[in-house]
Amino acid sequence: MTFPFGAVSTHPPFILAPMAGCTDLPFRLLCKEYGASLCYSEMIDCRGLVAREQECLELLHTNGTEQPVAMQLYGSDPSVMGAAAAILSEHPIACIDINLGCPMEKVVQQGAGAALMKNPRLAEKIIIAVCKNSTKPVTVKIRSGWNQHTITAPEIAKIAEGAGAQAIAIHARTWSDGFSGPVDHGVIRQVMKAVPLPVFANGDITSHEQGQALLKKIGCAGVMIGRAALGAPWIFSGTVNQHPSMAYRLKVLLRHLELAETHLAPEPNLSKIRNHAWKYFRGTTNGPAIRKQIDATTTYHELRGFIHRLAEQVFSQ
Ligand SMILES: Cc1cc2nc3c(=O)[nH]c(=O)nc-3n(C[C@H](O)[C@H](O)[C@H](O)COP(=O)(O)O)c2cc1C
Repeated sequence: MTFPFGAVSTHPPFILAPMAGCTDLPFRLLCKEYGASLCYSEMIDCRGLVAREQECLELLHTNGTEQPVAMQLYGSDPSVMGAAAAILSEHPIACIDINLGCPMEKVVQQGAGAALMKNPRLAEKIIIAVCKNSTKPVTVKIRSGWNQHTITAPEIAKIAEGAGAQAIAIHARTWSDGFSGPVDHGVIRQVMKAVPLPVFANGDITSHEQGQALLKKIGCAGVMIGRAALGAPWIFSGTVNQHPSMAYRLKVLLRHLELAETHLAPEPNLSKIRNHAWKYFRGTTNGPAIRKQIDATTTYHELRGFIHRLAEQVFSQ
C-alpha cells in the first residue's frame, strides 16, 4: 500500500502510535528495524514549539534512516497550530499529525486533544490552519468521540477530509473510556465509510497476528500499535517469535540502549530509559526480580552496567 505521503511505500501497513515519553528517535529507529512502516513522534506542544522551547525542539530530532516519520502537534489555538506546522514543515518528515485524542487533563482543559472531538468547529479551524501552513501532508489522530453518547468520529473525519487532511488514525475509544474497555471496531468501519481517506485502526492490538487479522477483517489501510510495542518492538515483524526467550529480549534491549546512547546527548534520560527497560521483561518468570534491580539503579551508567552483566550471564547459559 502507498500512503499519500509522496512515494513512500509502507507495506506491510503496521504503524507505531505516538506515545509521549516513549516514541523518541531511538525507539522509533528500533521499531523501524523490526519493520514498522511509519512511526509517530511524541506529541509536541504547539505553543512550546513556536516559543522554541528546548524541550519541544528536542522532540524534533530525526534522521534519514527513520523515514517516513510523522510528527504530532497538539494545541487549541488555530493560529499557533498553524505557526507550529510551518516550523515542522521545515524538518525532513513525512507528515504532520494533529492530536484529537489525548485525554490528559492538562491537554483537555485547554480545549486540545480529545476535547476537540466535542468541538467540531474548532477542530475544523485547527486542521485548516495546519494544512494551510504545512508543506507536508497532514493527518489527524482521533478518538471515537467524547463519550458513548457523543460518537463524533465519522463527523470529525469528514470535517478533517474537507479541511485537507490526508489520512485518519482512530483510537476506537471515547475520551471517557480512557485506555480501557472494549475497542469499537464498528466506529472504525463508520469512519472508513464516511471518508475515502486511508484509515489506521488503533486500540488494543497486542500481537502481529492480531494486527494482520484486523487488517483482513475490516480492510483498513493500516494498523497502529502503541502499548504492545513497548518492550516488544518485534511486534512489527511477521517472522520473530512473539514470545521470545530472555536472551532475545536482552539482545533487543542492548540494541535499544545502543541507539539511545548514539542519539541522546549527553546520555539517555534515566527515568525514560528505565521505563523502556522494564517493559522488556513483561510476562517473564524473572521479570519481577529484574525490575526491582532496574528500579534500584540511580544513574544511566548503573542501569547500563546492570543490563550488560545480566546479558553476559544469560548469553553464557
Ligand atoms: C504512554 C502513552 C503515551 C501516549 N501519548 C500519546 C501522544 O503523545 N499522542 C497521541 O495521539 N496518543 C498518545 N497515546 C495514545 C496511543 O497513541 C494509542 O492511541 C493508545 O495507547 C491506544 O493504542 P494501544 O492500545 O495500541 O496502546 C499515548 C498512550 C500511552 C500509553
